Amino acid sequence: MTQLIPMISQAEIKTKVRKAGQEISLHYQDKNLVLVGILKGSFIFLADLTRQITIDHEIDLIGVSSYSGTSSTGMITFTKKPDLDLQGKDVLLVEDVVDTGNTLSAIKAYMESLHPASIKICTLINKHERRQADIDADYACFSLEKGFIVGYGLDYNELYRNLPAIFDLKL
Ligand code: IMP
Ligand code: MG
Repeated sequence: MTQLIPMISQAEIKTKVRKAGQEISLHYQDKNLVLVGILKGSFIFLADLTRQITIDHEIDLIGVSSYSGTSSTGMITFTKKPDLDLQGKDVLLVEDVVDTGNTLSAIKAYMESLHPASIKICTLINKHERRQADIDADYACFSLEKGFIVGYGLDYNELYRNLPAIFDLKL
C-alpha cells in the first residue's frame, strides 16, 4: 500500500523560499537575471520563488525528460528549449530536486553553449546520497540525504504534484 508521510510543511517551505528569494535579490542586484525553470517539477517552486524576488527579472522555461519511476537514466532529451535569447544574461536554473545531478549537468552543458554571462543553480531539494555528477546547487532550500519525496510540484509517475506540502513516498 502506498503511504505518504508528511515531511516538510507548507510553513517551512514558505520560510525557505522567502529566504532564497531574498538572497537571490541581493546577489543579482546589478545583473540581468533570468530564472529558467525546469519543467515540470519546478513549476510551483518557480511560481513562489519569482514572487519572493524583489529585483527585475525575466522568466523562461525548459523541458527535459530523463526520468521514469524513481531513478534517473542520465540521458536527457529537450521537450522545450528556452524562448529567450540568453546570451549575456545571468541564468539561474530553477530545479525541484538535484539527485544524481546527471540531469542538471546535461542541462548546464547545453546552457553554456548559449553563452550566458553566468549560470547558477537554485533547487528546492538537494539530495546527496546518489550524487554522481560533479555539480552542486548554489541555492538550496532543503537538504536531504535520501528518500523519494512528492508534493509541491514533485511527482511520482506524474501523481502527487498537487499536494501543498512535501511528503515521503513509501511504496
Ligand atoms: P537527477 O538527474 O538524478 O539529479 O534527477 C533529477 C530529477 O529527478 C529531478 O528533476 C526530479 O524531477 C527527479 N527526482 C529526483 N528525486 C526525486 C524525488 O525524490 N521526488 C521526485 N522527483 C525526483
Ligand atoms: Mg524534474
